[in-house]
Amino acid sequence: MTHHPDSVAVLDFGGQYNQLIARRVRDLHVYSELLPGDTPVETLREMGLRGIVFSGGPRSVYDEGAPMVDPAIYKLGIPILGICYGMQLIARDFRAPVEPAQDREYGLAVLRSANAGLFAGIPREQRVWMSHGDMVQAAPEGFVVDATTVSAPVAAMSDPVRKLYGVQFHPEVQHTDHGRAILENFLFSVCGCEPTWKMESFVDDAIRTIQGTVGDARVLMALSGGVDSSVTAALLHRAIGDRLTCVFVDHGFLRLNEADEVMDMLRGDFHMDIRRVEAQERFFALLEGVEDPEEKRRRIGGEFVRVFDETALALGDFSFLGQGTLYTDVIESGTKTAAVIKSHHNVGGLPKDMRFRLIEPLRELFKDEVRALGEQLGLPHRFVWRQPFPGPGLAIRVIGELHPDRVRTLQLADRIVREEIVQAGMEGDVWQYFAVLTNIQSVGVMGDGRTYAATVAIRAVTSRDGMTADFARLPYDLLQVMASRICNEVPGVNRVVYDITSKPPATIEWE
Ligand code: XMP
Repeated sequence: MTHHPDSVAVLDFGGQYNQLIARRVRDLHVYSELLPGDTPVETLREMGLRGIVFSGGPRSVYDEGAPMVDPAIYKLGIPILGICYGMQLIARDFRAPVEPAQDREYGLAVLRSANAGLFAGIPREQRVWMSHGDMVQAAPEGFVVDATTVSAPVAAMSDPVRKLYGVQFHPEVQHTDHGRAILENFLFSVCGCEPTWKMESFVDDAIRTIQGTVGDARVLMALSGGVDSSVTAALLHRAIGDRLTCVFVDHGFLRLNEADEVMDMLRGDFHMDIRRVEAQERFFALLEGVEDPEEKRRRIGGEFVRVFDETALALGDFSFLGQGTLYTDVIESGTKTAAVIKSHHNVGGLPKDMRFRLIEPLRELFKDEVRALGEQLGLPHRFVWRQPFPGPGLAIRVIGELHPDRVRTLQLADRIVREEIVQAGMEGDVWQYFAVLTNIQSVGVMGDGRTYAATVAIRAVTSRDGMTADFARLPYDLLQVMASRICNEVPGVNRVVYDITSKPPATIEWE
């Protein structure tokens, strides 16, 4: 954990909102990180923490192998807040009954609370988000019940003398009306934290950590031009300067002028050593005749590793590989395999026996925090707020076989979609917006003649995290401008359709 004077650790017992707890604490300007649930008590003591949060988790505290804590943790004198499973763990450790709920409680519940402790200054009745199978039936000796719901006799409990607190519901999720105020009470009234942490502090701490880890060694970084890898590169560069070398592989499936734009920004404004590898021909050769989307991904991923590996060997001696892994990438795969999954996205699946050690300074952060960090590091706004772009690029937006001319057609159509969204001032409202070159040919009429040409689909979606999505309600007039520009300006296209499916049942990308 990066050292910061007022830090709060969240011990991870496997719940789905755990990282969100750390994130909410950081939103309140107190540094917080998720630590493994079995972090030794001695380590926690040495960190000089102001508070500890026991997270939620999917297990029952009586399950064999359920995560436990060393009871010495309660003697540290550091305030503890148990959330959901975390509260059940405290109850169990202090010999209170924890039993399966009649029905698994999932969703909103009405909480009635005292107006003190964690609930000071908060309305006595509020809606809270519950998600649990077990419940604490009675508070342990020395604890008081601070809140109840119709089905939970102990929805919150505390022992202010030992500074132990528990809530059965999730204050970190937005559905809990006063979750933020509850966390504030814990951080500021109970733990005595000062709200001094800012993204600037993250930058300083991360730089120190990177310098400490890397020493005099050199770091190689696969740069895709996306927000995550660009911000990571900027941060690494600030930490180790010219001992960072970035490799930007142009596989030929980038958006129009994308390679130049990325190179100009990072070389020009940041003076970074970036090697651009022109690999279009070998990628096109490799994908000749391939129509199956998964086969496209597999071949692109594999070839990416080869190109990257060859370049690394040619460039010299690197001990570390920098990656822009974010927390969302980490949870996609379950925490322990994170590096492998992200490398699928970033560098196409690195071999397990690779010679590099990974350095991933953003792995605690969420996308919007990375964007704030990017701004902090001075990356241009338009760059930081770019929409997500898949690793295989336009190769999975050209349906069917890939030819350079089909990719070119899509690049031109895609540029128009992007330009018009920007022109309409809608970039901030839409999660992703792009064109797809379908494999449908249809009849049209242009001038006085018949055409038989390609159909382009426009895809624009709103989403919070890319896991689910809805089609964006773009104004008809805007769609009309896009359609007419695409048919007029892109040779070989005579029809444009708008994709109005959500995810599920569709996905955001077409392949
Ligand atoms: P789907 O199409 O699964 O996309 O709804 C969800 C999000 O993931 C992106 N995506 C990818 N990103 N490699 C990536 O790095 C891929 O193979 C890939 N496929 C989809 C997609 O753009 C969207 O943001």
